[in-house]
Amino acid sequence: MTKAGLVGVFMAFLMISCGGETKQNEADMEANTSPVKPIHSFAQPEVAVVKHLFLDVAVNFENKEVAGWVHYAIKTAKGAERIVLDAKNLSISKVMVDSIETKDWWLGEEKPFLGQALEIAISDTTKMVSVKYSSVNSDAIFWLDNGDKPPFMFTQSQAILARTWLPCQDSPGIRYTYNARVTVDAGLMALMSATNPTEVDSSGIYEFEMTQPIPSYLMALAVGDVRYEKLGANTGVYALPEVLDTAAFEFEDMQKMLESAEKLYGKYAWEQYDVLVLPASFPFGGMENPRLTFATPTILAGDKSLTSLVAHELAHSWSGNLVTNATWNDFWLNEGFTVYFERRIMEDIYGKDYADMLAVLGRQDLSHTMQDLADHPEDTQLKLNLEGRDPDDGMTDIAYEKGYFFLRTIEKEVGRQKLDVFLNRHFSENAFKTITTEVFLKNLKAQLFDGDQAKYDALKIDEWVYQPGIPSNCMEVSSVLFEQVQAQVDSFNNDMAVSKIDTAGWTTHQWLYFLRNMPDSVAFDRLGELDNTFGFTKTGNSEIAAEWFVIAINNDYRNADEAIKKFLLRVGRRKFLIPLYNALIDADPSLERARSIYAEAKSNYHSVATNTIDQMLKL
Ligand code: BES
Ligand code: ZN
Repeated sequence: MTKAGLVGVFMAFLMISCGGETKQNEADMEANTSPVKPIHSFAQPEVAVVKHLFLDVAVNFENKEVAGWVHYAIKTAKGAERIVLDAKNLSISKVMVDSIETKDWWLGEEKPFLGQALEIAISDTTKMVSVKYSSVNSDAIFWLDNGDKPPFMFTQSQAILARTWLPCQDSPGIRYTYNARVTVDAGLMALMSATNPTEVDSSGIYEFEMTQPIPSYLMALAVGDVRYEKLGANTGVYALPEVLDTAAFEFEDMQKMLESAEKLYGKYAWEQYDVLVLPASFPFGGMENPRLTFATPTILAGDKSLTSLVAHELAHSWSGNLVTNATWNDFWLNEGFTVYFERRIMEDIYGKDYADMLAVLGRQDLSHTMQDLADHPEDTQLKLNLEGRDPDDGMTDIAYEKGYFFLRTIEKEVGRQKLDVFLNRHFSENAFKTITTEVFLKNLKAQLFDGDQAKYDALKIDEWVYQPGIPSNCMEVSSVLFEQVQAQVDSFNNDMAVSKIDTAGWTTHQWLYFLRNMPDSVAFDRLGELDNTFGFTKTGNSEIAAEWFVIAINNDYRNADEAIKKFLLRVGRRKFLIPLYNALIDADPSLERARSIYAEAKSNYHSVATNTIDQMLKL
């Protein structure tokens, strides 16, 4: 599209959305905006709210800079005098209101982790606001300097980092559509959470469109030397050229997953579903950026055994991206639902025994998280209170696994069929809206329990949501495939020779269960025997490696030292880093061992990870 073409798209949007009227009717204003006051944003959506955003920026690897213009089509309430955006570590150089430069704008006081309010004077007839800005070294962005090889950059906006790479109303309760023009070095491909190219454009100029309204935490951009491979009718994968074949094989079942998801909870609302395999510095397993999940390469196990992560991010296309938690206090509505949905997809495609393994591992994770949070019981409620805190600090496995077991417990009580009817209605009635825990519970009571308070109370729903710990009615899960593993663990504990352990046909999750259920202390010789027989230290499976390395560190099995260091230098996924650095800290409380590895590894980690590890290592 030409420049005129793009601006045309934007102007057309303005005309349609504002219809030439000055006064907005309230229902319209709130259609995609939660009536709940934002907690981690300065925005005042009830006064003025962004409805469409046009991002026009250039990406500069040398300066680690994203800079250019953002234009916002806004809706104003009667009497509105200002619009408030979020900004953190941004340089703002120029502001326009309806295409006329204004000096009436202010950056507020810098607040810890929230950044600053960017206030711009407007009137209630204002249609468009434009901000010229630059972001250097944004906390959201990882810049990979690859030496002779092409560079790579990616953003990670959730939970409140979008404001560090573009000024925006950064609350999950505020949704808008967007389009973008991104200029990058020739030869690189740019991708966003929007319509995407499938080939490198020699001009280095890429145009994007997201026609469904999304919250700011789903704004995403990646730039690198990536290639595309189509997988199914509306699925595909992007990866570095040398990773593409491996990734295409690993994700072969993606179209099936999409079809399974649609069969469960309704039509996929975002047209295309692709996955982008990022460099190993990506701090998460996956991030559900609409139309384009960002994923860690550590799920490329070679045997498709870690693809429940894809099912998870895909499931977010419903729980999270379509029906969004109104605030980060309601985070479990995004993640708990998604874990439930993910395991339903996996069950549908790979069978109940497979999904049971995931559930049992999840139950173990939940118990461990409860123990870890013993001093912070308030963080073990589903409904959180993160006001005044960095939301990232409250986002634990509780939302995922307690949320999952809450839904499973309901399912057990009312039956799967009834729960599915309710969930289908939940996704269709709340599509492109935000939802609070309270509204969800109200709907649950009315629709699933016919308003019967006694039935509702019998499930201890208030306890699940508003009290710490695991309620006594939590349904129990078991796995036949793990029973056999447990028998081998028991034999091992009874000093059976490792060569006699029967591991025939074990898959990744069985190996994980085996390692997780090792005793706390294992003799050096026994570890050597395990390692020589099963090759744990040199495994290419990141989940198995991370589990084994923790055991190795805890038991001073130094034969794994080199492999552990290599892993920590290469992989920046926080879920692996935390237990490994914790083990290193326990093994050497002077912190020297952990700090020396970290000093070398840190430049390969995203800020989301370094924030956590810095705290752990008291840096
Ligand atoms: N949305 C999350 C990642 C996230 C959560 C980013 C909170 C920032 C703040 C994503 O969907 C997720 O849950 N990823 C998991 C994988 C999943 C299979 C449990 C992860 O990265 O480990
Ligand atoms: Zn998730």
